[in-house]
Amino acid sequence: MDKPFVYANLAMTLDGKIASFDREDFSLGSRSDRLEMDRLRARADVVVWGGGTLRTARHPARVREESLVRERAERGVAPHPANALITKSGAFPDKLPWFSADEIERFIFTVPEGARRLDETQTAGAEMIVLNEAEPLAPQVLAHLGERGMKNVLIEGGGALVWEFARYIEAFHVTLTPWLAGGASAPTLMDGPGFRSGEFLGLTLVEVRQVGDELFLRYARKPE
Ligand SMILES: NC(=O)c1ccc[n+]([C@@H]2O[C@H](COP(=O)([O-])OP(=O)(O)OC[C@H]3O[C@@H](n4cnc5c(N)ncnc54)[C@H](OP(=O)(O)O)[C@@H]3O)[C@@H](O)[C@H]2O)c1
Repeated sequence: MDKPFVYANLAMTLDGKIASFDREDFSLGSRSDRLEMDRLRARADVVVWGGGTLRTARHPARVREESLVRERAERGVAPHPANALITKSGAFPDKLPWFSADEIERFIFTVPEGARRLDETQTAGAEMIVLNEAEPLAPQVLAHLGERGMKNVLIEGGGALVWEFARYIEAFHVTLTPWLAGGASAPTLMDGPGFRSGEFLGLTLVEVRQVGDELFLRYARKPE
């Protein structure tokens, strides 16, 4: 089995935040950014979100542009990529539309605590995978998705999830947007405990595109 190709796409403010300190739903990017997100989703077999992102977004990740949905149909794949949720707590408000989106293949990766908390209405129609908490998250998730034939895995965030997958992400697509958000507790492109200086992950800038006030950046991971 080939290893899946893992790429990330996020929009961030000039000060590196991906949302406000209160994590309210807010689209940082312009229409061009939303189109870029759609293009990257259209290439994906599966889009991966952390629980924090789902609590804000509520709905599953879909491809919105009709032309991209048609291209997927021509390739013989489903209109929308599969969606994977990563949750430890399994604690979500009632009736989040994500849990009833039966037209989309869905995976819920959780740990025993989350599996106990998620109820039947939330897990019905999805494949639930209970992870081994003693082992790192990303390789378990990627191995399972690989077994399910997912070759292109798109990590959309948030910052906590990017940290978990950082060593496996081969390409970072980042939209630099013309906002300053501030807020020491606001989520950033990558959170988690962080690396010591000298242990940072290295990147190579592969592409820069300016559209209006936004920069579309693509970085590739340097081998460690
Ligand atoms: N600008 C952008 O492009 C962009 C993209 C994505 C998200 N966002 C924003 O970012 C914010 C969310 O980011 P965030 O960093 O707070 O949250 P997040 O990364 O979306 O989710 C974090 C959650 O993922 C689960 N998780 C993480 N590591 C885990 C592990 N090892 N095992 C099991 N579960 C694990 C936990 O879920 P539970 O809490 O369920 O246990 C954890 O609380 C939202 O405001 C969202 O709108 C912005």
